[in-house]
Amino acid sequence: SAPIIRTLAEIRATVARWRREGAKVAVVPTMGALHEGHLSLVRAALSRADRVIVTLFVNPKQFNSAADLAAYPRTEREDAAKLGPVGAHVLYAPNAEEIYPEGFATTVSVTGVSEGLCGAFRPGHFDGVATVVAKLFLQTGADVALFGEKDYQQLHVVKRMARDLDIPIEVVGCPTVREADGLAMSSRNVRLSEAERAVASKLPQILFATAERLAAGAPLASTLEGAKAAILTAGFREVEYLELRAEADLSPLDHLDRPARLLVAAWLGETRLIDNVEVGAA
Ligand code: PAJ
Repeated sequence: SAPIIRTLAEIRATVARWRREGAKVAVVPTMGALHEGHLSLVRAALSRADRVIVTLFVNPKQFNSAADLAAYPRTEREDAAKLGPVGAHVLYAPNAEEIYPEGFATTVSVTGVSEGLCGAFRPGHFDGVATVVAKLFLQTGADVALFGEKDYQQLHVVKRMARDLDIPIEVVGCPTVREADGLAMSSRNVRLSEAERAVASKLPQILFATAERLAAGAPLASTLEGAKAAILTAGFREVEYLELRAEADLSPLDHLDRPARLLVAAWLGETRLIDNVEVGAA
C-alpha cells in the first residue's frame, strides 16, 4: 500500500526532502475510487518523474448536487492498496480543513475554455475544479501533473489556469482508458445497472463512427443530428451536448478545418456519462 499523508505540513516536508535529493516530482490529482484510467496516469507520471504523489480529495466545490456528492464512491483503503504495486510514492489524502480551512473565501475562475460543453450544464463546476487543482499544485509544488483526456474540457481548464497563474508546473494530458467494449472508465460507472451498462457502450461506438464519418467529409450539422438520434435510440434518456471543437483551444467549429475533438455528455437513467474522441482532418 502507498503511505498516506493527511496534512499540508507533511506533504511539504516530504517534497522538500525529495527536492534535496534532486528528485523530479509528479502529481496525479484524483477523487479516488481508482480504476485503470487513474493507474495509467500514475504509470505516465513514473515515466516522467522520480517521485509520484497521487492526491485523493472528493472536492465538494465541484459537485452540482448534494446527492451526487453523497453518492460518490469512497474506497480509500482499496485505493492506497492499488497504488503500492503500481509504484506511486505517496497518497496525499488531505483532511478537509487542509483544503478549505475555516474562512476560505477564494475562487479560481477560468473563462473561455470553461464555457459551453460541461460548463453550460454544470454551473460552478470548473470554478471548483480550478480552485482545488490550483491548491493541489501549490501544496505539492510538483514539477509535472498528469490529467486524463477523458475529461477533455477539464484538461484545458487546468492548463489555462496554471499558465495564467504562473504556476511552474507542466500539465500533461494522457489518453482515455476504455473497457473492452469501448466504454470510457469512470468512477461513476459502478452506478450503472446491468441493463444500463449494456447500453453504455453504444456511446463510444456512436462517437467513433461519427468521428470517422466527419473525417471522411460528411456534413457536420446533419451528421451530429443523426448521431444524437442514435444515442437516444440506443437507450439514453437525454443528450446534453454533442459538439465538434478545436483541439487547440476548444473553440466551436462549423467545419472540420483543423485538428478537432468530438465531445458528448448524455444521461443514462440517473447517470451522466461524458466521452470524447479525436477527429482527424478531412
Ligand atoms: P477523477 O474523476 O477521479 O479523475 C482523476 C483523473 O483521472 C483526471 O485527470 C481524469 O481525467 C482521469 N481519468 C478518469 N477516467 C479516466 C480514463 N478512463 N482514462 C484516463 N484518465 C482518466 O477529474 C477529477 O477526478 C477531479 O475533477 C480532479 C481533477 C481530481 C479535481 O478534483
